[in-house]
Amino acid sequence: MSEKKVMLSGIQPSGDLHLGNYLGAIKNWSARADEFDCYYFMADMHTITVRQNPADLRRRTLEQLAQYIACGLDPEKNTLFIQSHVHQHAELGWVLNCYTMFGELSRMTQFKDKSAKHTDNINGGLFTYPALMAADILLYQPDFVPVGNDQKQHVEITRDVAQRFNNIYGDVFKLPEPYIPKTGARIMGLSNPDSKMSKSMPEGCVFLMEKPEDIQRKFKRAITDSDTENCVRYDPEHKPGVANLMSIYSAVTGKSFEEIEREFEGCGYGKFKPAVGDAVVETLRPIREEATRILADKAYLESVYHQGAEKASYVANKTLRKVYKKIGFVAR
Ligand code: TYM
Repeated sequence: MSEKKVMLSGIQPSGDLHLGNYLGAIKNWSARADEFDCYYFMADMHTITVRQNPADLRRRTLEQLAQYIACGLDPEKNTLFIQSHVHQHAELGWVLNCYTMFGELSRMTQFKDKSAKHTDNINGGLFTYPALMAADILLYQPDFVPVGNDQKQHVEITRDVAQRFNNIYGDVFKLPEPYIPKTGARIMGLSNPDSKMSKSMPEGCVFLMEKPEDIQRKFKRAITDSDTENCVRYDPEHKPGVANLMSIYSAVTGKSFEEIEREFEGCGYGKFKPAVGDAVVETLRPIREEATRILADKAYLESVYHQGAEKASYVANKTLRKVYKKIGFVAR
């Protein structure tokens, strides 16, 4: 294996990719391939903790792959794969289930949120989700897991489970660090700046493949604040909508909050909101065009995920064999 540090992350193809996924995670993945050994996957096994339409799931998994590549993840340099193609995830997932505590799982925010939202389907998979996620991560012995803020808790439980396992069996797993961007780690909904941007609130959510005019419309309608100040100033406590727009603008342009305040001094929200919309449209335009082009080439996509699964399985298998040996399973 190479001496490079390892980076790994995944996204559930349970909805179309949105600006939160891009700024919180994917943007941090691209352009790292020279520095790190990178593994990125479509977390399709996780999506079925909530009911999915099979045809949509299949379509979105491939679209997500095309979008990963369009976001700058060169498949020659990054290992891109579909989680369910690498059976070691399910196998290590089961093992780690037995090393993850009921109490720990009960504290997970994502479980609490999702079980409140899907009261008719609070299944075992939803509860033990973090054990599978720990397996996703630990199989590849990564140094860093680039995720948005909402996934930090899951990376932390992964470290706890890995540590528990290592305490019993010796140094089997490397303890990974969450790698969270300075700006963009928690993008809020444009129509609801008090909750994170998510596909479940489509009016406040900007999708990567959305048409420029729709993106602009969403930004023009973005909630700013209820005071009459009409001034672009970073104050997340009193002006969460404006702070969110500033974070988005900062993440796509690289400008600091001070620079943004100066740029829009005396302009009011009427000028600021469309300017953020424009910056986002221009960031997403090449991604949308490239993803559309790649998606049309099914044979290419197939070759990418075949090759990705092969590379990923090789690495994952090494870790799984070691784990099976340590816990006392007889080798085949
Ligand atoms: P998921 O699919 O919900 O989200 C994928 C990534 O996007 C980030 N994200 C956001 N970042 C900023 N602002 C937002 N509004 C926003 N919404 C989503 C998430 O933090 C995440 O990085 N359990 C994971 C998927 C997963 C995974 C893994 C991740 C499965 N196995 C192993 C890393 C490593 C999830 O549900 O993310």
